[in-house]
Amino acid sequence: MPAPKQGELLKGSAKKKDVRSSNIESAKAVADAVRTSLGPRGMDKMIAAPNGDVIITNDGATILQRMTVTQPAAKMLVELSKSQDVVAGDGTTSVVVVCGALLKKCQDLLDRGVHPTIVSDAFNMAAQKACEVLEQVSVSVDLDDRASLVRAATTSLSSKVVSQYSSLLSPMAVDCVLRVMDPARPNMLDLRDIKVLPKSGGTVDDSELIDGLVFDQKAAKAAGGPIKVEKAKIALIQFCISPPKTDLENNVIISDYSQMDRVYKEERNYTLGLVKKIKASGCNVLLIQKSILRDATTELSLHYLAKAKIMVVRDIERDDIEFISKTLNCLPIAHVNHFKPEKLGTADLVEEVEVGKGRVVKITGIANKGKTATVLLRGSNKLVLGEAERSLHDALCVIRCLVNKRFLIAGGASSEMEINLALSNWAKSLGGMESICVRAFAEALEVVPYTLAENAGLNPIQGTITNMLEENVVQPMLVTSSAVTLATECVRMILKIDDIVPVR
Ligand SMILES: Nc1ncnc2c1ncn2[C@@H]1O[C@H](COP(=O)(O)OP(=O)(O)OP(=O)(O)O)[C@@H](O)[C@H]1O
Ligand SMILES: [Mg+2]
Repeated sequence: MPAPKQGELLKGSAKKKDVRSSNIESAKAVADAVRTSLGPRGMDKMIAAPNGDVIITNDGATILQRMTVTQPAAKMLVELSKSQDVVAGDGTTSVVVVCGALLKKCQDLLDRGVHPTIVSDAFNMAAQKACEVLEQVSVSVDLDDRASLVRAATTSLSSKVVSQYSSLLSPMAVDCVLRVMDPARPNMLDLRDIKVLPKSGGTVDDSELIDGLVFDQKAAKAAGGPIKVEKAKIALIQFCISPPKTDLENNVIISDYSQMDRVYKEERNYTLGLVKKIKASGCNVLLIQKSILRDATTELSLHYLAKAKIMVVRDIERDDIEFISKTLNCLPIAHVNHFKPEKLGTADLVEEVEVGKGRVVKITGIANKGKTATVLLRGSNKLVLGEAERSLHDALCVIRCLVNKRFLIAGGASSEMEINLALSNWAKSLGGMESICVRAFAEALEVVPYTLAENAGLNPIQGTITNMLEENVVQPMLVTSSAVTLATECVRMILKIDDIVPVR
């Protein structure tokens, strides 16, 4: 290890202070970077990747995830917004902004000589109290109260580029979640049961919630097979309709024509055997999982399948198998010997249709449809479509939050101010350092109203006051309570760090 230079020989405590304040500074810089995108009038960020990809987004988690951050403490803020994304799905900008404001307050307190441990403990208490306050001001919401759910989804969409379409997207998000929710076990809600298929062409207005299933893959029509099947019997298969291949190192050497004929005949018989077994089960639509080992179909097998009037959709992703089998109420078939009629799904119509610039395969009128939802999302270009997808995800998460914890609070910073008032009052009953720290915590939350007003181009001091509940700006309690809790946790972690130890 090289000897430390003269200038680096700081006294122990001075160095610790140095590491702490440089950590705080870096983390604050990250928070400042996303501050301008908070709220309905917040700005969007254009993220340009070195490979030329461009993303336009307002989503805090997405912005931070794409940002090149190297300082370890700054990275903690990136993680912070990620955890908010996992817990609540919305409020990923707020959590970082609040964290930045809390850190600023910490810096002031530390400069005034308060010990980090005292700050950390007081903040912990304050955060718990803040959650209690939120519970007091929250109003409970019933899942039958569709209007309230739609209002909450609209609030989350109001800050997005696609907010003008929220009259379409909000009810859609609510319907999706209610459709996949199991009333007996509402807490087991899995957003993977909602499939969003982005397809460019048209506008977001053309998006629809499909009563059925849609694939991006097209029907195979090289051999003239059907592209529309009524009264469909659908099989989801995980094997290939092509002759098996030899191992990589093996060669089959053919020396004369009769042998070649035999190989060809063998292939024909094998393929024909497969197709016959499939046809015998009554199947008329085949969904074939993508294979990396060999071709899912050959020219020959497509020809036979077309003759048997079986529609073929290839390249189904492995990840989609579960979703498809759940939706169609069918079982994936791994080998032709297991091809039984009871494993097939039934639908009124399977059809390849034109959507925008491309084509999709649509399955409608599914018998015994499972609890899934499919949204065909439309947008004029890739940028809009990407942001629409992220925004819809936020709205879905908001509804999920409400399913898990059925309380709504008023948005537009009114709940943050409620906490501010309650904590300031409470601080009066505390003594000494604690009181100062709790008051600092309360003041830090003022960053939300300030920022919302500032981003709207208003003077934060002269902002108008209205009743946010009457303005229909409501959001799930879980979003704000987890933002406050997670931000505090992150601040406490940063406070407790007094040294950075690089290792190789
Ligand atoms: N119509 C409105 N009027 C006033 N404030 C609003 C309105 N709609 C939303 N807000 C407020 O805007 C804030 C949310 O802004 P935004 O959606 O940009 O950030 P976020 O939810 O923290 O992060 P993200 O959506 O990127 O995950 C909340 O404090 C919310 O109460
Ligand atoms: Mg939001």
